[in-house]
Amino acid sequence: MQAIFEESRSTRPSLEGKVAIVTGANGGIGSAIAQQFLADGALVVLTDLAQSGEQLSSLGKRAIFLEHDVSQEQARSEVVERALSRFRKIDVLVNAAGIHRHGVMTDTTVASMEALFRVNQLGTFLGMRAVVDAFASNRHGAIVNISSCLATRGVPGQFAYAASKWAVRGMTKNAALELASLNIRVNAVMPGPTDTPMFRGLPEADQSAIAAMIPFGRVARPDEIAAAVAFLSSDAAGYISGAELEVDGAVFA
Ligand SMILES: NC(=O)c1ccc[n+]([C@@H]2O[C@H](COP(=O)([O-])OP(=O)(O)OC[C@H]3O[C@@H](n4cnc5c(N)ncnc54)[C@H](O)[C@@H]3O)[C@@H](O)[C@H]2O)c1
Repeated sequence: MQAIFEESRSTRPSLEGKVAIVTGANGGIGSAIAQQFLADGALVVLTDLAQSGEQLSSLGKRAIFLEHDVSQEQARSEVVERALSRFRKIDVLVNAAGIHRHGVMTDTTVASMEALFRVNQLGTFLGMRAVVDAFASNRHGAIVNISSCLATRGVPGQFAYAASKWAVRGMTKNAALELASLNIRVNAVMPGPTDTPMFRGLPEADQSAIAAMIPFGRVARPDEIAAAVAFLSSDAAGYISGAELEVDGAVFA
């Protein structure tokens, strides 16, 4: 019995002592992930375009904030260097920074397509590529990319955004295969509508209509997305890579 007990203990989700970079950490989902990671014992590098005053006073010794734009190649390398110089290693990367634009294909401008590509797709790629050497030198690492339930089927009015989130799924699958021999896991979380500033940017009537479509009768709380990310980042998910976890109240079940 003792051996069985010991084994099961090793697969409990825990982030104790792990160093994690979380992008989009000012956002609803990114900040919930950072908080969950800190509560689970991780050391966290929070990143976003700019640091908020509230964060300046609330960050403890186990967290730092770095300003950067995820779509800038050089800035991604600098975040990795600064994370290593502060915490000596990196175990987890969460690509949560993102932007949203509505629009059907015929109304989609090149500028809108490019903006979504640069943040959601290029930003995720640059983030993953930037941590590979640090992960490889540890002989382990976990990447969680935030895609969307809107990248599980066609959804009218989401042309460019959905394309960028389908791209995140594709990159997640390919990176999972390419990095498996380095013991680096790459997974995607696909949130449904979630109560964050991005969602609250919609007209109220749209928010209510969306909530009414969800079998659970409500949108997700950011901490519900964070719980899934924390699990996939932990050693409890040590044999899970290339997976896509839908956290969407069964909206597209
Ligand atoms: N809220 C939802 O309903 C929902 C559903 C599915 C997927 N998502 C995805 O979840 C992720 C988080 O979204 P959220 O709802 O928390 O949105 P949010 O708007 O609250 O947060 C997004 C964060 O990303 C940051 N960001 C934007 N562009 C950036 C850049 N170039 N460099 C660095 N940071 C940048 C923003 O400053 C912001 O803090 C996004 O990838 C989003 O597409 C959200």
